[in-house]
Amino acid sequence: MPASRSSASTLPPASVNFAAPASPVIAQPAQRRLIVAITGATGAIYGVRILDTLRRLGGVETHLLISAAGWLNIQHELQLTKNDLHARADVVHSVRDVGATIASGSFATDGMIVAPCSMKTLASVAHGLSDNLIARAADVTLKERRRLVLLVRETPFNLAHLRNMTTVTEMGGVIFPPLPAFYNRPASIDEMVDHTVARVLDLFALGPALSPAWPGLRGDDE
Ligand SMILES: Cc1cc2nc3c(=O)[nH]c(=O)nc-3n(C[C@H](O)[C@H](O)[C@H](O)COP(=O)(O)O)c2cc1C
Repeated sequence: MPASRSSASTLPPASVNFAAPASPVIAQPAQRRLIVAITGATGAIYGVRILDTLRRLGGVETHLLISAAGWLNIQHELQLTKNDLHARADVVHSVRDVGATIASGSFATDGMIVAPCSMKTLASVAHGLSDNLIARAADVTLKERRRLVLLVRETPFNLAHLRNMTTVTEMGGVIFPPLPAFYNRPASIDEMVDHTVARVLDLFALGPALSPAWPGLRGDDE
């Protein structure tokens, strides 16, 4: 018997279909879901405004995580209670609950936002530590090739911060420091925050764009 014929006997039974799909399929969850984590960098308002915006838009199940330092900053910067925060999300997870649904890639989500993201959580994500549910959910988001957006906040940056941002970018994450824009001439902090939140949520294509397209600008010297 020719060699090619004998090796054919090791093929799997014909009933098993290993045919590749014509094009890559990125699974969309039947229920749209976003994980929102608030960590201990300054700027808790970003995480809270993201939850409020998602609640206003509707149609997205929100899973909220808040680190211990995140709570500290929420109380200091916003004077909000745990109940105030919990009421803004559909599901609230303890950061210690590494057995939660969102700790598994089998639980489909549209992705995860960490807002604000401390340098400590950035480091955990960059090094795949999964040492609490925030880092684990981010790790899962990356391994499942879902959208991960980190609103990293520190100033100035040291080399570890910069390297960790590069590492997360190389893994497919989006580093989105919440730096205010001035081209839209914001009249208040609320407008600055809303502008950033709109740009962040537009990365998830949850519906019509929230931030208006730049109309272009022509200089006098042309
Ligand atoms: C008032 C306050 C503001 C802070 N701001 C920042 C910050 O902007 N960026 C940062 O990386 N850490 C900041 N930290 C330090 C973090 O909270 C600290 O590193 C913490 O361990 C982060 O843990 P977490 O990522 O689990 O929330 C701040 C801490 C406090 C108390």
